[in-house]
Amino acid sequence: MEVRIASTLQSELPVLWVVSPETDEATWAAQVGAVGLTPAQFPLAKRLRFFNNGSVAALQVPLPAHTLEHLRRGIFYALRKAEEVGWKEVQLTWACPETQTDEDFFQTLGEMSLMSLYRFTKYAVDPPASVERITVIAPERYQGAVERGFIIGRAVNMARDWVNEPPNVLTAEELARRIAAVGAEVGFSVEIWDKARIEKEGMGGILAVNRGSLNPPTFTIATYKPENARNSRPFVLVGKGLVFDTGGLSLKPTPDSMDAMKCDMAGAAAVIGALRAIAQLKLPYYVIALTPSTDNRPGENAYTPNDIIHMYDGTPVEIRNTDAEGRLILADALVYARRLDPAFVLDFATLTGAAAMAVGRYASVLCTNAGSAFRDALLDSGQHTYERLVDLPLWEEYGYLIQSDIAAIKNTGTGREAGAITAAKFLEYFVRYPWAHVDIAGTAYLTSPAPADRAFPRHYQIKYASGVGVRLTVDFLRRHGERLFS
Ligand code: BES
Ligand code: ZN
Ligand code: ZN
Repeated sequence: MEVRIASTLQSELPVLWVVSPETDEATWAAQVGAVGLTPAQFPLAKRLRFFNNGSVAALQVPLPAHTLEHLRRGIFYALRKAEEVGWKEVQLTWACPETQTDEDFFQTLGEMSLMSLYRFTKYAVDPPASVERITVIAPERYQGAVERGFIIGRAVNMARDWVNEPPNVLTAEELARRIAAVGAEVGFSVEIWDKARIEKEGMGGILAVNRGSLNPPTFTIATYKPENARNSRPFVLVGKGLVFDTGGLSLKPTPDSMDAMKCDMAGAAAVIGALRAIAQLKLPYYVIALTPSTDNRPGENAYTPNDIIHMYDGTPVEIRNTDAEGRLILADALVYARRLDPAFVLDFATLTGAAAMAVGRYASVLCTNAGSAFRDALLDSGQHTYERLVDLPLWEEYGYLIQSDIAAIKNTGTGREAGAITAAKFLEYFVRYPWAHVDIAGTAYLTSPAPADRAFPRHYQIKYASGVGVRLTVDFLRRHGERLFS
C-alpha cells in the first residue's frame, strides 16, 4: 500500500471525507466545490453517506465529536468501507474549519492512513484485495505533520509485524538481526551481545530463563545519538523480548494462556518501533533501547522452582515460578542501564496477566518511581494517543510480598494479590534512577477486535498485535521531551 500527499482534491479519484462536527455550511461548500459539487447535491449528513454521480465518487463519514480519537475511528471506518466497495485508489480528506484544526489532526491522518488497512499477510495464501494507494489531502503548512504521521504509522506496523511473526521464525537471534537491520536503515547503532558475551557478563536472569531452550539468548543495545541532542544523559528504553513464553517448567496451560505467547516480545517491538520513528523524525534526543531476549521453555536443563539464581549485579533471587520470567530478563537490562547514567528509563513489557485482569484491553498499567513531571507527562501522552495508562502504586508494603526467606527476593508474590504491582516491585529492586514501567499484557495483543462504539461499528483496534507503546513513546518525547530532557 502506497501513501502520498497532495494539496488539492482531484475529481477523478474517490474522495473519503471525514467530517468534523465543527464543519459549517461554508466549509463544506468549499470542500465539495473542489470537485465541482454543491452542498445541495451532497449535503452535510449526520450519518455515513455514499455519493456517486458518474463523475465523482465519494464517502462522507461524520464524526460524533471533534477529538483525535474520533478522527482515528472515522478514518479507519472510511478506509475499511473503501476497501469493502473495492476502491483501489482514494483521497483522504479532513473536512474541518481552519480555526478548529491543527497539526495533531493532520498527523493522525498520516498515522491512520498506514495503520487502518494493516493486516499480517506474510503467510496468507489468498490475502483479501485492498486499497492500493491513499492520497492524503493537506494544505502545505500541514504536510509536514502528515509526513510525521506516515513515519509513526510505519513504525507501529513494523512493531505489529514483529509481534505477529511466529516464534519459529522470530527467535532471539532473529530479533537481534532485525533490530540491526532497522538501525542500518534509519540511522542508529546496534550492539548485539550473544550467549558467550551474556555468560561472560554474568547476566544470570537471562541465562536462567534461557536454560530450557535450544536457541541462544541475545541482549541488544541500540543507540541513537544525534549531534544536536538536547540531553547529555540518555533516555533509556527497555523492552521485554521474550520470543515465546511456554511458562517453562511451571508450564502454562493451553488454551487461553500459552496460545498467544508469541506476543511476549511486544515490549521489544514497541521500543524498537519507537526508536525507529524517533530516528526517522530526527528528534534531538539521545535515546538508547535495550532488549533482552530469549524464549522460555521446559527443556531438560530448564531452570526450576526453588533454584536460586544470581542476577547481573549479583543479587540472589529465589525462583518460585518459572513463568515469572519477564522480570528476570528485564532486571538484567535494568542493571545494565545503571552504567548509562540515564536521565530516565522507560520499560515496556507484557509482564503479568494481572495487569490485563485489572484494566483489560483499555489501558496499560503504569508503575513509576519518578516524580510527577515524568508521571504526568506519560499519563498525558497516554490520553493524547489513546494508548491510555492507569497509574498503580509502588508502596513499600507491596515489596513485602516478594521478600524471600532464603535469598534477597523471590520472583513471585505471595498468593495472587496485586500481581502487576509485585512484578513492578521486583523490577524496582534493581533500579537506581528515575524509571517508569508499563505493563502491556492486556493491550499488546488482542484475541478479538475491540468492540465497536455507537458511531462506528468497527474499531481500529483490530485483532492480534496492536503495536501499543510506539505512539505513546514518540508522543512523550515529542511533546514533553524538551521540558523533561533539556
Ligand atoms: N508473559 C506472561 C504475562 C502475560 C499474560 C502476557 C497474558 C500477555 C498476556 C508472563 O511471563 C507471566 O506468565 N506472568 C505470570 C506471573 C505469575 C507466574 C506470577 C502471570 O501473569 O500469570
Ligand atoms: Zn511467563
Ligand atoms: Zn512472559
